[in-house]
Amino acid sequence: MHDMPHDHVATSLVEGEAVPSPSPVATRKPPPRTRVWDWVVRGFHWLLVAAIALAAATGYLAGVSWIDIHVWAGTAAATLIAGRVVWGFFGTTHARFSDFIVSPRTTLAHMRALLAGRNERHRGHNPLGAAMIVALLAVVAAIAITGVLAFGGVLKAGPLAFATTFAAGWQARQIHEALALILLGLVGLHIAGALFESWRTCENLVRAMVDGRKEVRHGDHVSVRRRAQPFLAASIAAILFATTAVTIWTLSLRPGLGVPVAKVDPVYTKECGACHTAYHPSLLPRASWGALIAGLDNHFGEDASLDTATAARLGDYLATNAAETADTLPANRLRQVEAAKPFTITATPFWTRRHAGIPDAVFASKAVSGRGNCVACHADASSGRFYPGNIDIPDEATP
Ligand code: HEC
Ligand code: HEC
Repeated sequence: MHDMPHDHVATSLVEGEAVPSPSPVATRKPPPRTRVWDWVVRGFHWLLVAAIALAAATGYLAGVSWIDIHVWAGTAAATLIAGRVVWGFFGTTHARFSDFIVSPRTTLAHMRALLAGRNERHRGHNPLGAAMIVALLAVVAAIAITGVLAFGGVLKAGPLAFATTFAAGWQARQIHEALALILLGLVGLHIAGALFESWRTCENLVRAMVDGRKEVRHGDHVSVRRRAQPFLAASIAAILFATTAVTIWTLSLRPGLGVPVAKVDPVYTKECGACHTAYHPSLLPRASWGALIAGLDNHFGEDASLDTATAARLGDYLATNAAETADTLPANRLRQVEAAKPFTITATPFWTRRHAGIPDAVFASKAVSGRGNCVACHADASSGRFYPGNIDIPDEATP
């Protein structure tokens, strides 16, 4: 690939060569523009904008049931970052880290020059822009890592589900959210910086990131021209991509840490699934199940009593597979029961909070038929997982 196509305007005005002083006549013509950002840099930039926008929209605005789109957007952002890092070593002149990453001292000197009102112009990234790029790349990478940890620990999905506890995942999630806010702040600063620099240097830098060209001006900081190594870059990126994808795929197939694996007892399904869905044992703590079994003769106003042997068997089954034995989100959250209603799942503080936004009419509808009918909206309710990507309120239930 050739990063500096010789256009008809200025064959002589390529990087590294002296720029002739403009003659009075030449200044009236628009100054020649030269290719600065290659298509990889531009494509990366705008695809990253799209990926971050989608991840932010699904993270902040959409409900948890958008989790799969959110994860795909994050995966796309992480993939783009990895590709950009490779291109930072093998790309065209101004794509390279060596072109724009400078010492803090140079950055300070640049800031002093700005404050002094000196007209410093960099053909590629200036030192402040470069610092921002490094910060953006690093923060997006950190968001991706904490995202994978949260996905694994809290939702028991993805490549780290097999090794991440709920507690660790929850912490990663907090960090993930804090970093997301920091990223929004950085994006704001980045846009402000680009607009400021556009104003300061009288050149539309947004346009430059679209068509890749910047004006050739006298006194520009120019760089030693570097030829891109696209085949090397593509090979490295392809190997990186393939090994990561295979690793993620194989790790994702491992069972999640603390996800219930015990088969549901058929006697339980028969006896406790007669009037409503058989609630997964991991949805309530041992003490709650004990109290429920002890009071079956008056079970929410119904007589659900069982013979002693069956009651004992189901009591054992529920105790052995109670919330204490699982590390899923529902098992961790529904463990805190409402004292006055120790075995009403739909009365737990967590359940009430998470379903507060759903109108009563939806629960009352025929398609849902009751708050306790989890499976109407959670396709995986019987497994106890309640993965948010499996949430779907039936259309007929919404008025
Ligand atoms: C005779 C019918 C019947 C049988 C059999 C029955 N239940 Fe229930 N169960 C009910 C009713 C009615 C409710 C209250 C549902 C409501 O108000 O929406 C209920 C509620 C529950 C709840 C609370 C659900 C919520 O809304 O939070 C749990 C947990 C529960 N049952 C577990 C069991 C278990 C375990 C068994 C088996 C030992 C069992 N049930 C057998 C009728 C039954
Ligand atoms: C009318 C449909 C509906 C019913 C019935 C329902 N849920 Fe939900 N549930 C939802 C929706 C929608 C959400 C997502 C709320 C949000 O965006 O925060 C949700 C969220 C959850 C979550 C959190 C998921 C996560 O990863 O954040 C859990 C756990 C959960 N429900 C458990 C239950 C249980 C247990 C029952 C049955 C006792 C139940 N739900 C019944 C619709 C329903």
